[in-house]
Amino acid sequence: MTVTAVVGLQWGDEAKGKFVDLLAKDADIVARFNGGDNAGHTVVNDYGTFKLRLTPNGLLNPKTVCVIGPGVVVNLDTLIQESKMFQESGLDLTGRLWISPRCNIVMPYHPMIESIFEQAKGASRTGTTKRGMGPVFADKVSYNGIRFYDLEDEAVFAEKLRIQLAIKNPILKAFDMPELDLEQIFQEKLAQYAQLKHWVREPYGLVQEALAEGGNVLLEGAQGALLDNQWGTYPYCTASTTLSGGACAGLGLKPQSIDHVIGIAKAYTTRVGSGPMPTELTDETGKTLQEEGAEYGTVTHRPRRCGWFDAELVQFTCQINGVTELALTKLDVLDKLPSLRIGVGYRHPNTPDQLYHYWQGDSRWLAECQAEYIEMEGWQQPTKDIRSYEQLPEKAKAYIKKVEELTQTPIRYISVGPERDATIQVW
Ligand code: IMP
Repeated sequence: MTVTAVVGLQWGDEAKGKFVDLLAKDADIVARFNGGDNAGHTVVNDYGTFKLRLTPNGLLNPKTVCVIGPGVVVNLDTLIQESKMFQESGLDLTGRLWISPRCNIVMPYHPMIESIFEQAKGASRTGTTKRGMGPVFADKVSYNGIRFYDLEDEAVFAEKLRIQLAIKNPILKAFDMPELDLEQIFQEKLAQYAQLKHWVREPYGLVQEALAEGGNVLLEGAQGALLDNQWGTYPYCTASTTLSGGACAGLGLKPQSIDHVIGIAKAYTTRVGSGPMPTELTDETGKTLQEEGAEYGTVTHRPRRCGWFDAELVQFTCQINGVTELALTKLDVLDKLPSLRIGVGYRHPNTPDQLYHYWQGDSRWLAECQAEYIEMEGWQQPTKDIRSYEQLPEKAKAYIKKVEELTQTPIRYISVGPERDATIQVW
């Protein structure tokens, strides 16, 4: 039996999808444990190019059973859209998807309330994916959520929805937004639930059974460690936990059950949305990374902010996730650069003699800090067709070794392109 978690070590978009897709071929179960349809995974494989937001990437592997655990919030529109996409591509989902009835459901008022929050904050807004994540998780923790269990009983659902609209409609009205109609939402959600309910069954027993029988379970993290609601750059973060530890709560696994944690980090840094990013490049080099790396959001199509690899951040996120092996992605994006920098800590203008760690302050403090760098020579040779570590240019190997040394974590995989086979397995 092996339980492997795949988690992002930066601000999301580290190309976790590609690794989940690769590893899913040996997995009996692939399970999501956090987030919702704010995630955006792009997978390129024999069936085509898929942009998935909610369903586990493992569904692209015809033999894998996939789980959406109770830690995930579900947008029914997205689930229907994605299931149609799979069916149109000839992928049979029969018996392959299990969605926990404990999952909270994104209701039409959640994105509306989120837009009220974002507008009120003005320049200090989070810059969310507009999927209603903050409000739906807020409802979950304040006991105002509506779950699949509630949709099973029409009377229960009607009463819960009535209460929520009694709370939400006055807020919407106060901010000049249209009030929502109880009957319309009630009918719409029940009709959607009717299309989906054959997948809604508690996966806890299935996962436990697979573990008892020695199966392989892959835990598919969404977003990245620096967007974690607790340890990320709060309030410029997401609403759920993005760490490997969250997989235990999000799926009902005992902490001892996770054998491997594969941390995914880009060979540089990107971020979508607001918040501090100490190694951000706003010059031509930043533009080169954006263009070479096609750095535009999967969900929102926003251009991603780009910058140098920040080893201080990744060392911390490896530690907090218990990362056992690293996958360094998009190395090829650095191919043309004559020199490279790696962030190794921060200096604050008030105490310039001291080199700080990420965890020593909050987002406001981090925004005032400057990154400290080491310089490395670029390799200026194409790497996208290389498939073995030995064939990499010596300067690329030196960069990889430096990343290992600074993050104190061994690099097992190097990705040099979006395709499944554009991967170097180091050991
Ligand atoms: P939310 O998760 O939509 O509430 O957005 C909160 C923050 O997390 C924003 O900065 C988003 O850009 C960021 N975010 C959420 N999901 C992802 C993702 O999958 N990749 C990258 N950034 C994300």
